[in-house]
Amino acid sequence: MKISPTILPLLALMGVSVVVAQALPHAGKGRARRPIHRHEGPAPHASGRLGDPLPDLTQSQLSAFTDGLGEFESVETADSGLGPIFNNTSCANCHTAPTIGGASAQVVTRFGRNDNGVFDPLAAEGGSLLQSRAINPAVLERIPVDATIVVQRQTTPLFGAGLIEAIRDQDIQALANRHKADGVLGRAAMITDVTTGDERVGRFGWKAQQATLLAFAGDAYLNEMGITSRFFPTENAPNGNQELLAQYDHFADPEDEVDPATGKSDIDKAADFMRFLAPPPPPHITAEVQNGYGMFVRIGCAECHVPTLMTGPNKIRALDRKPVTLFSDLLLHDMGSLNDGIAQADALPTEMKTAPLWGLKFRAPYLHDGRAPTLPVAINDHDGEAVPARDRFNKLPAGQQKQVIDFLNSL
Ligand code: HEC
Ligand code: HEC
Repeated sequence: MKISPTILPLLALMGVSVVVAQALPHAGKGRARRPIHRHEGPAPHASGRLGDPLPDLTQSQLSAFTDGLGEFESVETADSGLGPIFNNTSCANCHTAPTIGGASAQVVTRFGRNDNGVFDPLAAEGGSLLQSRAINPAVLERIPVDATIVVQRQTTPLFGAGLIEAIRDQDIQALANRHKADGVLGRAAMITDVTTGDERVGRFGWKAQQATLLAFAGDAYLNEMGITSRFFPTENAPNGNQELLAQYDHFADPEDEVDPATGKSDIDKAADFMRFLAPPPPPHITAEVQNGYGMFVRIGCAECHVPTLMTGPNKIRALDRKPVTLFSDLLLHDMGSLNDGIAQADALPTEMKTAPLWGLKFRAPYLHDGRAPTLPVAINDHDGEAVPARDRFNKLPAGQQKQVIDFLNSL
């Protein structure tokens, strides 16, 4: 790859030294698809491909990654505790594109009720998350008739999740406090982390509803697959019906298995896999991409989609003070009409977390419910705090709009 001096600033920003960029033959060469299977050959090692572990892991961290991948792929059945109500049978069934750990257009449904401006998750009727499947048709959940809000959320990608987890709370809070152009606000989601009891800054999920991968894993095991664990010991009752639950749930809780060899349970292993999963490979930078990046900053997109954050000091060398080129401030913003009407954790119905843009070229459609089939539509659907940036994008000449899109497609 020939590197012109004008593209150096973006390379530096992406945390990529020129030497590394030159040494990575597949950096940005389209969709690197590589099916991973735990039974196939030697442990995977860092080669810069999507789905690989982070570079610089120790041998024991690499084996935790491989074990975790196995757990992430393993399919739950009624005999292993699946359900009674659930959305899918393995993590990898939803987090699948273009390789395991990725996103997908698979959606989950949330419902609730707007009572004169106050959100009611209809918890007594099984809200706000619908479990759309069941081990027996008798317990299948339905959207309650009194729900006034029914929305969908797409599956988000997990590449680089360990780096996002390792960003310090105070660094995200500092982004909320700094002055931003265009009247952009943004606030850190404050949540109680179920694994420690600590008040933390949420950063995972469309609503920044969780702060740690272990908590998200426990949440997903329970709410997507119906597997209870030490942090989420209570099974979901179908539409809140405890009698039906008692009739169809024959497993003692917690259902999450502990591996006697390691002392780790399923949720610990899934968290290890996500923590050690490498971020998307660095972009292939052309002059168009470089110009598009300049435009992206100039029209105000980077007020929320902050290019790079840093991880704090970390015992794990691969996560220790590393740049995280995620293009997000991880803050909640009032997005006006681009909201899902659901209050969740600290997020209000109108607030959404700035979606990280890294790995954008590996996924579509866009936005929380997949409403945008293309990137220009996704930009146009921005509202609320993002109106000035959106309008500036729309006023750019077509050639410059294309450069911004080329930049986004390089990530
Ligand atoms: C039915 C499909 C489905 C299954 C099964 C599923 N997920 Fe997800 N996952 C999603 C969706 C949808 C989101 C976005 C949720 C939201 O923010 O409301 C998500 C988000 C996440 C996130 C947050 C990522 C981020 O950066 O925002 C993590 C972590 C995660 N899932 C882990 C898991 C694990 C671990 C499992 C297996 C125990 C799992 N998921 C199973 C659909 C699924
Ligand atoms: C006020 C903060 C803010 C500004 C400014 C902003 N965005 Fe966003 N962006 C968000 C939020 C929040 C989301 C997630 C919204 C949702 O889906 O509910 C998002 C989502 C996106 C997505 C979709 C990502 C995905 O995974 O589906 C793209 C692409 C995007 N923004 C590009 C841009 C561009 C280009 C600009 C500048 C014209 C911009 N954004 C300005 C906050 C902002």
